[in-house]
Amino acid sequence: MATPVITLANGIEIPQVGLGIFLMTNENETAWAIQHALKVGYRHFDTAAVYGNEAVLGRALKEAGIAREDLFLTSKVWNDKQGYETTKQAFNESLEKLQTDYLDLYLIHWHGPNVKETWCAIEELYAEGKVKAIGVSNFSINHLEAMKAYATVMPMINQVETHPYFPQDELRDYLKKEKIHHESWGPLSQGKTDLLLHPILTEIGKKYGKTPAQVVLRWHIDRGSIVIPKSVNPNRIHENFALFDFALTEDDMKAIAKLNIETRYGRDPENTGFEW
Ligand SMILES: NC(=O)c1ccc[n+]([C@@H]2O[C@H](COP(=O)([O-])OP(=O)(O)OC[C@H]3O[C@@H](n4cnc5c(N)ncnc54)[C@H](OP(=O)(O)O)[C@@H]3O)[C@@H](O)[C@H]2O)c1
Repeated sequence: MATPVITLANGIEIPQVGLGIFLMTNENETAWAIQHALKVGYRHFDTAAVYGNEAVLGRALKEAGIAREDLFLTSKVWNDKQGYETTKQAFNESLEKLQTDYLDLYLIHWHGPNVKETWCAIEELYAEGKVKAIGVSNFSINHLEAMKAYATVMPMINQVETHPYFPQDELRDYLKKEKIHHESWGPLSQGKTDLLLHPILTEIGKKYGKTPAQVVLRWHIDRGSIVIPKSVNPNRIHENFALFDFALTEDDMKAIAKLNIETRYGRDPENTGFEW
């Protein structure tokens, strides 16, 4: 089973479905989930320095023996490493842990006070060919507009919280106009809500023999987003990848759009509450 690819503004292709590995902290469980995902067909993995599992991912991928060029690896610079030198240092640490000499995608995890220096370092890593595509995470329209004054290369991706309760319509319209690709984190609302029990999703799923989670993930895909659901459960890892043997109708999409309650469950990029 394969997943469609999305072509980013610089021509780099990213598999539309990847495995998110946030909150995978138990080493054995994480390694096992990654190995299982590889068997199912996942080739795209989303980690971050702050998740503390880059080394486990690196080891599991090495042991699986998949050719590096067949993998798509994303990592992110955490807040305490933002700045010019520290970002480069953090990037090299990520490479080492992941046992690779390049990343496919490197993101600024959250917008912070040293964003200009951080982005400058990332642009240099990109120019040196050490990372194939560069981007940001949790950036608002204001953050991206401000970037135009200091960036020589604009981000190719903005990874933000997105699910039917918080579909990010305004930001998505902006990103489309700016040719920045939208990537959904927390695509299933992180297990923090009753989303997957919603009767509208159950009803739609019944028509296709699919679970509410699959309906939600297909909704992300039909909107053209990149999606990185996390699971350590073998059935769910499989289920979250089995999304291409059905399609949602326009009516299904409209029904799901009605679930929008404009509610985020993660931090607000404009007011994160982080102490920098
Ligand atoms: N850039 C950022 O700031 C940021 C923030 C958060 C996340 N992320 C990235 O986005 C990825 C995904 O987001 P997330 O992990 O926070 O949340 P998520 O993928 O929306 O939800 C994960 C939760 O849903 C459960 N789940 C997964 N598949 C399911 C299914 N088919 N049916 C029912 N429950 C299911 C998982 O439990 P089990 O594991 O037990 O299946 C887990 O509790 C992360 O792993 C990370 O890579 C980025």
